[in-house]
Amino acid sequence: MATPLIIDTDTAQDDCVALLVGLLDPEADLRAITMVAGNVGFERQVRNAFLTSNVAGRLGEVPVYLGCRGPLVREWVSAENVHGDGSGGLDMDVSGLATESEHAVDALVRMAAEHPGELSIVAIGPLTNIAMALAKDPSFVDNVKSLYVMGGSNNGRGNITAAAEFNFYVDPEAAKSVFAAGFDVTVVPWDPLTLRRAVFDQERLDRIAALGTPLAAFFTRVCAATLEFDRTVGIEGTTHPDSLTAALLLHPELVRKVSPYHVDVETAGELTRGYSAMSWGVHGLEANARVVEEIDAEAFYEYLVALLSRPTEPNRPIRGL
Ligand code: RIB
Ligand code: CA
Repeated sequence: MATPLIIDTDTAQDDCVALLVGLLDPEADLRAITMVAGNVGFERQVRNAFLTSNVAGRLGEVPVYLGCRGPLVREWVSAENVHGDGSGGLDMDVSGLATESEHAVDALVRMAAEHPGELSIVAIGPLTNIAMALAKDPSFVDNVKSLYVMGGSNNGRGNITAAAEFNFYVDPEAAKSVFAAGFDVTVVPWDPLTLRRAVFDQERLDRIAALGTPLAAFFTRVCAATLEFDRTVGIEGTTHPDSLTAALLLHPELVRKVSPYHVDVETAGELTRGYSAMSWGVHGLEANARVVEEIDAEAFYEYLVALLSRPTEPNRPIRGL
């Protein structure tokens, strides 16, 4: 049976690829896309989600819910310097397309309560919506089967500051509350896992570009700005933490090592806002998460190649593709 899931996303670049995983992998039963403030402007993120559904040939099939437009207590911080508009300048006619009227937080709470213990959530943006759902309904934590979180670094470097990864930096209070809540949570960190195992170098990108499908052309465009940015910070390729997170939920066989950790997030530090303290069992702290430490990187790349090879027919013309 396909895995029922919701993807909570700040849709830009690899979030788009993660949505493709949810939309196209036969193992996925994607019930909803919930939007949270993060990478780029909120309306742009929604447009990017529609663009992604469109290139997958599934426009209008999976409902898009609008969630929190900013972090719990802080100002929004964008990653537009990294991702541009998040879709490489692609655009489409969105007339007649509608997002759901129910707020994403309400939808998360409702859908989890309707199917207790069945629904998984892949959270690949700041954790604001998830924290709000918790605040709204304490039984949310038990109703959710599993929560897969892209965020933090496992005793490694950050990306938005030396100490912090973007998703946790943007809303550290939300991230802290999520780890304290008692979810069955699996974490896909930025460093070392993403930086060592989910970066596609030029050769790999060329192979994807040569696939010749609308999905491959879409992938190449949405990743272009990030590729340029990455080179300026010494990363030789595009980074794929979000699509990796979605893929690991659906294909646990890609995981080679996952370990119990106590994860907490810094909210008060002067230099360490959003730092993820991941304690590996020797500090007297009870584990509250599993952290993915190693994957089959080759198999993950081949998985995305196979996904992007699919000959989809976009529902509407995509400008720039
Ligand atoms: O730090 C990586 C995360 O922030 C990913 O979710 C990606 O979307 C990014 O901007
Ligand atoms: Ca993201």
